[in-house]
Amino acid sequence: MYLTKEEEKILNGEYGWGLAKAMQVIVSVGDSLNSEKLINIAHAHISGVSYGNIGEPGKKLIKQFADEGIKFSVKTTVNPIGYDTMDYDAIPFTRIDKSYIIGQEEILRSLNKMGADLTLSCTPYYLPNVNEIKKGSSVAWGESNAVVYGNSVLGIKTNREGGPISLMAAIIGKIYYYGLHIEKNRIPEIKYKIHKPEDYEINEVRAGIIGEIISKIHNNDKPPYLEEKLKNDTTIKEFSASLGAAGNLAMVVINGITPIRFDEKEIKETITIDFNDIKKREEELKPNERPDLIYFGCPHTNKHEIEKIANNLKKINNLKTKIIITTSRKEISKLDRDALNILRSKDVKLISDTCLIVSPFGYKGLNIVTNSYKAYFYLTKRGIKVSLISIDNLEEVLRL
Ligand code: F3S
Repeated sequence: MYLTKEEEKILNGEYGWGLAKAMQVIVSVGDSLNSEKLINIAHAHISGVSYGNIGEPGKKLIKQFADEGIKFSVKTTVNPIGYDTMDYDAIPFTRIDKSYIIGQEEILRSLNKMGADLTLSCTPYYLPNVNEIKKGSSVAWGESNAVVYGNSVLGIKTNREGGPISLMAAIIGKIYYYGLHIEKNRIPEIKYKIHKPEDYEINEVRAGIIGEIISKIHNNDKPPYLEEKLKNDTTIKEFSASLGAAGNLAMVVINGITPIRFDEKEIKETITIDFNDIKKREEELKPNERPDLIYFGCPHTNKHEIEKIANNLKKINNLKTKIIITTSRKEISKLDRDALNILRSKDVKLISDTCLIVSPFGYKGLNIVTNSYKAYFYLTKRGIKVSLISIDNLEEVLRL
């Protein structure tokens, strides 16, 4: 890989152990991918910072960097951890050990010392300074839903980086020029059409199912192209999260949303998804009994989604099922007072910094309902029964 004189100095340790270590990791991965050079990044989002995930070895590595006085070279945000930092017991059916909290706090202290913004959210794209990153800029993001959303909606460029790579990239402010940083790799070759009656709405649950279907059939290096115009941000977000979870995809081109120019002549194949297949899957995933818990917030909800949930709950008396919502502290601070009052009166819990999947939540046999295909995908692997329902159909499940 070609390195500038400055990059070589960093690699050779002229600026100390920490920067050299980060540069070595990025260069060796870049070399193994045959990347020709390094490029600057405008932002980093570090995933995999939960103590439950990286344990003592991860904690020690981050602390070593922090103790060395290493600072992040670019604005850096951080993914959720295993608990709410203001209310350790916020997640139902979950106990967090003291040793877990001590380990996690040390990781957060180190990241903070290095200059990270401890947003502890998987939707960095809702933050004003991230949302405004110039289209076409490269970043290093390590949370799959954010990677798909960043590439496909914001028009910024990132591969799907693992936690350690996003950490190292944040330290040196660079990443290898590879994959989706290269413009031609972002141009789709396969188009997906939805065959459906005009009045068949694609809500967020159906969008998650479409993500599952595409994930199973997409066998091409370039991002899929969805011809269907998705209507709102919740739908786009759940679609992005589903593709990232079920398909390991890092980008999708969405008609009318993705800021990219390409010639339709480049499309080599069109695949039609029949709405009857979406309907059939939706039926299979529909709740048929009262759940132990209703969960919204994978990926973290935004203000509008929380207010919509509150509004749907307004007319429900005698709510018998516990509802929890995971979101970022920033989104909670933007909430309308009326919505907050409704949620409080219904005993709906707003939880920050975490989610059901990153936390050690649950035990086999638990039955939950959510609107998130991604939550379904991961929680069913823990032996939890998960059904899907749109925020708009919340009332239906409350009547079970
Ligand atoms: Fe976010 Fe947790 Fe889902 S990190 S995308 S809420 S799995």
